[in-house]
Formats: sequence, C-alpha cells, structure tokens
Amino acid sequence: MLSLAIPLLVGVVVAVAATAAGPSACSNITSQLGSSKITTNELSLNYVGSTEYWNTLQDDYKPSCVVYPESAQDVSVVIQAVRAAGSRFAIKAGGHNPNTFYSSVDKGVLLDLSSMTAKFYDPDTTLATYEPGGVFGDVYEYFAKWNRTVVGARLAGVGTGLALGGGMSYLSPQYGMACDSFRELEIVLPDGQIVTASNETNTDLFFASRGGGGNAYGVVTKYTVQSRPIGEFWAGNLIYVFAQKDNVVEAIGNFIKYNTDPKAAIIGTYEKLPTPDLNLNLDEAIIMFLVYDGPDPGNAFKNFTDITALLDTTGIKTYNEVVNMPIPMSTEISAGNNMFRVGVHRAGNNSYENALDEWRNWAESNKGKYVLLSLDFQPVPKSLTDASRAQGGNAMEMPDGPWFWLNYLISTPPGMSQADYDAVQTSYRDMVKATGNAEGLPLFINDANHDQNPLQTFSAFDKLQEIKKKYDPDSFFADYTGGWSFA
Ligand SMILES: Cc1cc2nc3c(=O)[nH]c(=O)nc-3n(C[C@H](O)[C@H](O)[C@H](O)COP(=O)(O)OP(=O)(O)OC[C@H]3O[C@@H](n4cnc5c(N)ncnc54)[C@H](O)[C@@H]3O)c2cc1C
Ligand SMILES: *[C@@H]1O[C@H](CO)[C@@H](O)[C@H](O)[C@H]1NC(C)=O
Ligand SMILES: *[C@@H]1O[C@H](CO)[C@@H](O)[C@H](O)[C@H]1NC(C)=O
Ligand SMILES: *[C@@H]1O[C@H](CO)[C@@H](O)[C@H](O)[C@H]1NC(C)=O
Ligand SMILES: *[C@@H]1O[C@H](CO)[C@@H](O)[C@H](O)[C@H]1NC(C)=O
Ligand SMILES: *[C@@H]1O[C@H](CO)[C@@H](O)[C@H](O)[C@H]1NC(C)=O
Repeated sequence: MLSLAIPLLVGVVVAVAATAAGPSACSNITSQLGSSKITTNELSLNYVGSTEYWNTLQDDYKPSCVVYPESAQDVSVVIQAVRAAGSRFAIKAGGHNPNTFYSSVDKGVLLDLSSMTAKFYDPDTTLATYEPGGVFGDVYEYFAKWNRTVVGARLAGVGTGLALGGGMSYLSPQYGMACDSFRELEIVLPDGQIVTASNETNTDLFFASRGGGGNAYGVVTKYTVQSRPIGEFWAGNLIYVFAQKDNVVEAIGNFIKYNTDPKAAIIGTYEKLPTPDLNLNLDEAIIMFLVYDGPDPGNAFKNFTDITALLDTTGIKTYNEVVNMPIPMSTEISAGNNMFRVGVHRAGNNSYENALDEWRNWAESNKGKYVLLSLDFQPVPKSLTDASRAQGGNAMEMPDGPWFWLNYLISTPPGMSQADYDAVQTSYRDMVKATGNAEGLPLFINDANHDQNPLQTFSAFDKLQEIKKKYDPDSFFADYTGGWSFA
C-alpha cells in the first residue's frame, strides 16, 4: 500500500505545483515590474485582446496572466521569474501561428510583445530597426516615410514572428527571405541573459534564428535589418472560375519554371467553399496574386492575363495597397478554426497538377467538414535562393530554385466534436502526406503543422540540434513552451 501511496502522493504534489506555478510566476512578475505591465483579469480588454488568435480554437485557453514587457530587461525578468516558478509560458507576437501552444498557453504566463513597437531608420547605413510588437503593416508604414521597407509579410496583418520562420515576401525573389535581411538581433536567452547575434557575434545563434523558428533559442527583442527601396507597384488579383483550373495551373507551372525576372512575384490560390456545386462550380474559385516591383511588368504575367478572368484588379498600387490584397483586413477576416500544412515540390513531373487533383478530390469527398479549404502555390525561384546565399544563407540552407511550397489551409466549422475534428484533420493530413514531398528540400516552418516536424527536413538539422542544446541547455524552452520538435 505504502509503495503505491508514495508515487500517488508525489503525483498530486507535482500536479498542485504545476497549477500553482502560473500564479506564482505572475505575482513575482507583478512585484518586479509593477501592476501596469500585467493583467490577471480575464474580463479586461487587454486580456481578451491578448487571447485572440488567428486559429480561434486557441482563444479558449486561459493564461494565469498576460505580461506586456516594454524592454529586453523586462523580458529578462519575466523569463527568469517563469523559470524560477517552473511555469509554462508562451511568447506571442502577431498570434498567427495556428499550432496549439506555439503562442498560446493554458494556466501559464503569456508574454505578449505588443507593447514593444519602437522603430528606427538610419539613412547613413540604410539599416532599419524594429521591435517585435505590432504587425508588418505598422512596420511598413513607418519606413515608407523614407521610401524604404523591410522584407516581411505579404499581408499587412501578420506579426513579426514570421521572419523567424523564414518569411516569404513579394520582395523575396529579389532579396531573399525576410530572415536573409537580418543584420543583428537582440535576444533574451532562456537563462535571461541579453545578447546580440550577428554574423560576427553569437554567429551560431544568428544562423539558427534565420528561419529556424521562433520560441526555440530565446526571445528576440530587436531586429536590425537591411532596408529596401520601395516605390510604385503594378499589382492586383485575377479571379478565375474553376473551369480555368488546368489553364491556370499550367501558367503557374510555367511561371515557376521559366520566369527569371526577380521583380515579379505570384501566389496562386485555389479556394473551395462548402456550398453545393449544383454543376455550376460556384463553390470553387482561383485567386491569383500578381505583384511587380515597378510600374511595368512587361510580359512577366502575360500567361495569366491571357486567361479570361472573372475579375481583374490589377493596376498601379502603393506597397500599402499591395499588402492589403485582395481586400483590407484579410488577415483579421480570415480568423477561424484554421490549420495549416505544407508540401514542397520540384518544378517538374506534373507535380502541380498532381497536388491540385489530390486536394480537389479530397475536397469533393469531404463536403460539410470544412468552411474553407485553400491550396496556395508559392514559387521559390533561383533568384531567391541566390539572394539568400549572397547574404550568408539561412537555417534552411535553401538549395537552388526553382522549386515551390504548397500551403494547405483547412478551416473547420465551429462546434465540431473533438472526435470529428480529429478525424477530419487526420484525413487531410493523410491526403497531404500521400501527395509526397521532394527529397532534399526544406518544409516551410511558417506553413507547417506541428506533426510535420519541418526542422528534420533541413540539411542543417544536426547543427540546429547542437545550437538548441547550447542555448537551451536544461530544456527550459523545450519543456515549458510549445514549438518545433528538435528530437
Ligand atoms: C493570414 C496569414 C498570412 C500569412 N502570410 C504569410 C506570408 O506572406 N509569408 C510568410 O512567410 N508567412 C505567412 N504566414 C505564416 C506566418 O508567417 C506564421 O503564421 C507566423 O508564425 C506568424 O507570426 P506571428 O508573429 O503573427 O505569430 P505568433 O504565433 O505570435 O508567432 C509565431 C511563432 O514565433 C514565436 N515568436 C514570435 N515572436 C517571437 C520573438 N520575438 N522571439 C521568439 N519567438 C517569437 C511565437 O512563440 C510562435 O511560436 C501567414 C499566416 C497567416 C495566418
Ligand atoms: C522571482 O523572479 C526572479 C527573477 O525575475 C527570481 O530570481 C526569483 O527567485 C523569483 N522569486 C521567487 C520567489 O520565485
Ligand atoms: C518618396 O518618393 C516620392 C515619389 O517618388 C517623392 O515625391 C518623395 O520625395 C520621396 N520621399 C523621400 C523621403 O525620399
Ligand atoms: C557580415 O555581414 C556584413 C554585411 O552586413 C559584411 O560586410 C561582412 O563581411 C560580414 N562578415 C562576416 C564575418 O561574414
Ligand atoms: C509562359 O508560358 C510559356 C509556355 O506556354 C513559356 O514558354 C514562358 O516562358 C512563360 N512565361 C513566363 C514569364 O512564365
Ligand atoms: C521526376 O521523376 C523522376 C523519376 O521518379 C526523378 O528521377 C526526377 O528527379 C524527377 N524530376 C524532378 C524535377 O522532380
């Protein structure tokens, strides 16, 4: 009896300690930072706002408190207090990663970076500095005063955590991924130390932070990046009826294979709604995003503009208008029970058509189990991988383009039972898996599902494991917050 009772008792004590850990960390933080930078009131506007996510299933989690640090010093205090209490925690920038507990936490400390929004432009070096709070739309607006921008999100509403996962921009074919423009990062390490990482100091940490994912090696509290010139764009959306699907996918394939103009960028998206088809194809549409950095795209998009479109919004636009395509607030409007998956393919062997057909077959046989499905083609041209390498390369060590990522979105209806939800996610997962991925190419962290273990697909995985061990030696981040597996 006694031998049984002791482990039971220990179990109870550990469980009690875990529930007490959040509140204990919170009261320690309050005593150090003062009550103005923290809230425990679940009904306050701050608390409610901080617990809203793009994947709204995470809105139900109730952190013990939400902390709003204003400096790297504040972040350091919070990390050390969380560590001392043994509490779970999460780091939140824009809150768009759909994976559970990546930027959300239940009963622990939510570190909301939204109060850290300082920005600075140095005209002599053309370097831009921004803190992690706010969304890319705010960052773009600030640097636009100098006709400059930073490489970041294609939608204004996405947060800065995007850059830590690589970051695909409309400017990426010219300048590489968002992380390739990093020049220096300020990082609060898992032990609370505040360090800088660049190609000259803490070079391993700098390497890992360029596309090796957020919430793994510390909290980034400042980004110093190479800014880029910005002027007029020729851009817009072409919307096609689904009857054009084969013509459009062929044009996407040709663009991936043959376009060599780095100022031209596209996203090709196939959308599927749950409404009945009625043989009218009203439940399907194709939305092309065409963006040219400059007023004249030449023939870059001719293969798309030659196909008859239902709607055409192309024309001269400012960058602010470009990142609000197809409509302003797209990021906010698209919040829901959303989950991502990713695939990666080389430009050949009918890989576009295959993936599209698999996806569409799944969509047809799973009506009623989603409110929206989309399949997005994201080219990775050679100019992008060249630009990445020219700036020192990133954690993905991207092999030469052209190749492409596919982003699979599924948005499930509200009120689904857990069993139905799990079943539909498993089925969607199996469809993506069956489509297969190209050997030797990295899965894109920003579009990946937790169970896809994207880091394992990086050629630098061993090196990243070592870096993780060095900066998170006692697995504090690994055990107390969500994130990509290093195992
Ligand atoms: C509508 C929409 C559009 C998108 N468009 C693009 C796109 O154009 N290009 C692209 O590359 N991706 C895009 N994505 C994917 C996007 O990059 C990821 O969802 C990314 O995780 C969002 O970052 P966030 O700051 O908004 O989210 P968060 O969930 O707050 O952060 C993402 C992850 O990084 C961690 N993190 C954030 N900030 C820090 C920090 N300062 N220090 C340490 N860890 C941190 C968080 O803990 C979390 O795990 C899009 C996503 C959505 C929903
Ligand atoms: C409070 O947090 C600090 C670090 O911010 C830590 O050093 C200290 O031990 C904590 N106190 C308690 C009682 O946990
Ligand atoms: C930005 O570009 C516009 C349009 O070319 C120009 O009128 C303006 O003077 C520029 N501003 C700066 C700060 O260079
Ligand atoms: C670091 O990057 C800068 C450009 O930002 C470059 O001039 C310098 O040569 C690089 N140093 C090393 C050690 O790679
Ligand atoms: C357009 O498609 C044709 C094949 O039909 C291809 O030869 C050409 O390179 C494509 N152009 C671009 C810019 O994608
Ligand atoms: C096409 O498939 C063949 C055989 O499966 C393979 O050897 C080749 O590498 C593939 N080509 C591309 C571009 O993926």
